[in-house]
Amino acid sequence: MTTISPGATIGILGGGQLGRMTAMAARTLGYSVHVLDPDAQCAASPVADRVVAAPFDDADAAADLAAHCDVVTLEIEQIGIASIEAAARHAPVRPGAGVLAVVQDRSVQKRWLTNGGFAVGPYRDANNEEQLAACVSEFGSLFVKSRRGGYDGRSQVRLDNTAGARDAWRSIGGRPCVAERELDLAAELSVLVARRPSGEIRVYPPALNHHERQILAWSVIPATLSADIVDRATTMARGIAESIELEGILAVEMFLLADDSLLVNELAPRPHNSFHETEVGCSTSQFEQLVRAVCDVPLGDPSVLRPAAIVNLFGDLWTDGRTPDFRLALERSGVRLHLYGKRGPRPGRKMGHISAVGDTPEAALDSARAAAAAIGAG
Ligand SMILES: Nc1ncnc2c1ncn2[C@@H]1O[C@H](COP(=O)(O)OP(=O)(O)OP(=O)(O)O)[C@@H](O)[C@H]1O
Ligand SMILES: [Mg+2]
Repeated sequence: MTTISPGATIGILGGGQLGRMTAMAARTLGYSVHVLDPDAQCAASPVADRVVAAPFDDADAAADLAAHCDVVTLEIEQIGIASIEAAARHAPVRPGAGVLAVVQDRSVQKRWLTNGGFAVGPYRDANNEEQLAACVSEFGSLFVKSRRGGYDGRSQVRLDNTAGARDAWRSIGGRPCVAERELDLAAELSVLVARRPSGEIRVYPPALNHHERQILAWSVIPATLSADIVDRATTMARGIAESIELEGILAVEMFLLADDSLLVNELAPRPHNSFHETEVGCSTSQFEQLVRAVCDVPLGDPSVLRPAAIVNLFGDLWTDGRTPDFRLALERSGVRLHLYGKRGPRPGRKMGHISAVGDTPEAALDSARAAAAAIGAG
């Protein structure tokens, strides 16, 4: 019996905005929430019953968190495997060390996907600047990404000439990396899949995503794509979740190319920015779905009740001591404001998002973008 019923306590490794929104969903369902984060005043802290302030590689702290919880999940994949194993001695950790070991290293992840028959774009491992230069000769322009530790476009750089190899190598910290051929993207989409220990699986319709400077700018669900593409994307995400024996939720970021082929960009076994709009558009938000999955209770209906979109709000909005006039967004019908309660806005830091619903995906997106523009964002 692996069910963890409401009233029990869920531990979350990571207390950023994803942990905060997961904690709020958990509380709605009647669970208590404990969080581990390096920052005692992290975004999730106001909605957690307990915060263990410790680095993610502190295995003793992870064990301490788990000792007071009935199940442990995570909102960030860069948690030391030793911490996961230490926590798992006290409570089930979902997703577990097996999933994280695949996902934490871009090279291991790509090899795992390729071996499983899930297509990824052309890439090479590179361990020094000479190998990077060789990749430029082979691919032309490429994205250099450190194997470990990057997110929101950090630890990655675009490179299109051999002379730039040295700077590129240095800028990612001189660490082992993958060099990916720069692809001509027709669109970017993501598919979120939930799987619980019992094996039940639910898949959300794909979200359509737009990145600027390699960071997600906006996202809309459902993606307006042909039935064939939706079908292939959904099948692929489901297949990955089954193969990796997922317990929890997993976002599969995908690239759509001009010839309609679909490639996996990367996997994220946690809530994903591109599914924040599920909170306002779907029967079940991704955060509630994560709670249901890790507690091994019946999964919620992932279908879209109303098309919905989000636009991210970055720290840039707050610079020069300015505070956005949120009334200009809130006065709009169907628009909601989500702020993460983070102290210290910095350029490029995700501080919140605007969401909107509409009669069509296009209308939802227009509404969210107009609301963001009204407060000076987007
Ligand atoms: N090989 C590529 N060809 C074309 N565009 C790419 C490629 N790799 C990355 N990009 C662009 O950069 C974005 C971010 O890349 P990626 O997902 O690898 O980085 P990340 O740091 O993990 O970002 P995030 O945390 O936002 O997912 C992609 O969504 C895409 O827009
Ligand atoms: Mg990404």
